[in-house]
This record gives sequence, structure tokens and C-alpha cells, in this order.
Amino acid sequence: MTDFASRLLSWQRRHGRHDLPWQESRDPYRVWLSEIMLQQTQVATVIPYYRRFLERFPDIHSLAGADLDRVMACWSGLGYYSRARHLHRAARVIVERHGGAFPSDFRQILALPGVGRSTAAAVSVFAFGAGQAILDGNVKRVLARCFGIPGYPGESKVEDALWRLAEGLLPETGVEAYTQGLMDLGALVCTRAAPRCPACPVAADCVAARQGRVAEFPAPQPRRVLPGRHTVMLILLHEGEVFLEKRPPTGVWGGLWSFPEAEPENDLQVLCRRRFGTEVELLGSLKPLSHTFTHFRLHITPQPVRVRQRAGMAAEADGLWLPPEDAAGAAVPAPVRKLLRLLGAG
Ligand code: ADE
Repeated sequence: MTDFASRLLSWQRRHGRHDLPWQESRDPYRVWLSEIMLQQTQVATVIPYYRRFLERFPDIHSLAGADLDRVMACWSGLGYYSRARHLHRAARVIVERHGGAFPSDFRQILALPGVGRSTAAAVSVFAFGAGQAILDGNVKRVLARCFGIPGYPGESKVEDALWRLAEGLLPETGVEAYTQGLMDLGALVCTRAAPRCPACPVAADCVAARQGRVAEFPAPQPRRVLPGRHTVMLILLHEGEVFLEKRPPTGVWGGLWSFPEAEPENDLQVLCRRRFGTEVELLGSLKPLSHTFTHFRLHITPQPVRVRQRAGMAAEADGLWLPPEDAAGAAVPAPVRKLLRLLGAG
């Protein structure tokens, strides 16, 4: 057994948590429910929900037989509701494919809806005493600090390195206490913002602690520098109304209503004459704004223009004149809504 594992095990026996409600039973249904609830939620929040859920749905059959609405109502307030939908679907899978008996095979647990590698491992360990490594967010932090693993753990090669480390550290015996110890260390000692290194059983060997660099691990998500694009949004105004066009069904903001756009180098008066067949008067510009898409950042220069004559305006077929307050309630992109609110308030 590694020093890391033996220190963690002795620490867990003396200082770890031993009276959490899901530690009272090895019933895989209860263990699974607790692990799903604990995926994105802290222990103190989970406890009352866990108890209430078990009163209403004490076993796989009661959960599988329930209406989804009742399950959702019981989950209400816990957040991340896809967890509840997956839980319900998984209960039905267990009844239909496993005859109502919770599978004990790691691969079969992993195949259940809503169960990832770390959750499958935790259920295998706590319900069946299996030797599987876990790696949730807390454990990633503990290992990254203790072994000085550089890089952002959301990156697959960093995550792969952490999984290899987690597997290499797993002891042959005492896996349940060891796994609980990892969770307890992450939750009680090696916390994200204010780690209590003097209370840590592995601090003497911790790379981050020894180098005084605890705050540097794990590395944060790298901020990508997105390429920028520039556009001018033409805010055509006439008698208190604005002109919106429906965007093509595909591409950015597909099918939404938006202001006509121009390139920053366009002469807007020439463009409006050509495109809309109307003379316009440029008004004072509004403050530029930006909008971030997955792959680029759009810098928007809003340019209000007064339309002399709305009648006979070309291209009006794909457009609509509306008071800004009404337009703000339509299917418009977020930055357009922001501009419409500004115009409506002004
Ligand atoms: N976080 C995830 N699983 C846990 C467990 N079984 N006990 C405490 N915290 C947890």
C-alpha cells in the first residue's frame, strides 16, 4: 500500500465522517441515490432530500412505477433536474433489464443513465466492496495538489493522468474507508478556497504544500482568446417604431428577429438607399456592446438612423415595424433585446 493510502486510511478512521445517512446501509439503491444527489450538491443540502426521497420511493420498484412528475416534485429545489429524469429512467432500466435487481457489475452500473465513471466506481465500492477508483471534482483537487499535477483537469490528457494516478493509489484492502477518506479529505481539509493543510494527513508529502503553491492547483480553465468579428446594427427609426428583419433559418441567431446589419466600412447612407430605397439621417451612436458565441466574439456598433419616409421602403417584406417595447418581447437575440430596452426606455 502506498504511504498516501495508509495515511489517508488512518486519518479516515479517526477524523473522517462515519454517520452520514447513506453510510447506514449497503443497499445499492440507497447508495446509488445518494451518489446521484451528491454529484453537484453538498452533503448538508442533500441529507433532507435523501431522507424524503426514500420515504416516498423506498426501493427501485416504487421509483420505476412512479410518474416522472412525482419524482420531479420530490427533487424540486435540489437543482440539476436532469439527474432526477435519469434516475427515474435508470430505475425503469433496472426493472426491465435486470429484473429489478440493482446490477453489481461495474460495466452495467456505468451503463445506467446519469451514471459516469466516478459515480459507477463509488456505487461499486460502497454497495459491493469493489476495488474501483473514484475521481470527482474534490478528488481531482486533492490529487492535483498532492502530486503537483499541472494543467486544467477538464482537459482530457490531464484527466487521464489523474485517473491513472487514482488507480495506482487504490489500496488492495480497505477500499471503502479509503474512498470515503478521499471524499472526506476533499470536503473537510483540502477545500478549494481555504485548505487546512496543518490538519492534512498527507501534507508532509504534498507537492503543492511543500512548494507553498496550494492555490495554483488544480490549474483553472484556460481562458481562450476568441477571434473577434465586427458588425454594425442599423436601428431604423420612424415615428417611435423600429425595423426588425427575420434572420435566415440557419447560422447565427437562425430564425430570430434582429436589426439589419452592415459592415463597419460601409457608407450607411448609400447602403440604406440601395437596400431599403430610403434616405436616412444618421443619429448619435449608442455604446458598442459585445456578445460571445462558442467560436467568436461579436463586437456590435449600434447605429440609429432616422428614416425619412417609411412608405415604399424596399425589402420590407422580410421586415416588421414595431414599438421597441413590443419588439423586446419577441424572439430576438440577447444583445438586440438589450438595445430595444434602451430605446424603449429612452
Ligand atoms: N460526495 C460524493 N459521494 C459522497 C459520499 N458517499 N459521501 C460524502 N460525500 C460524497
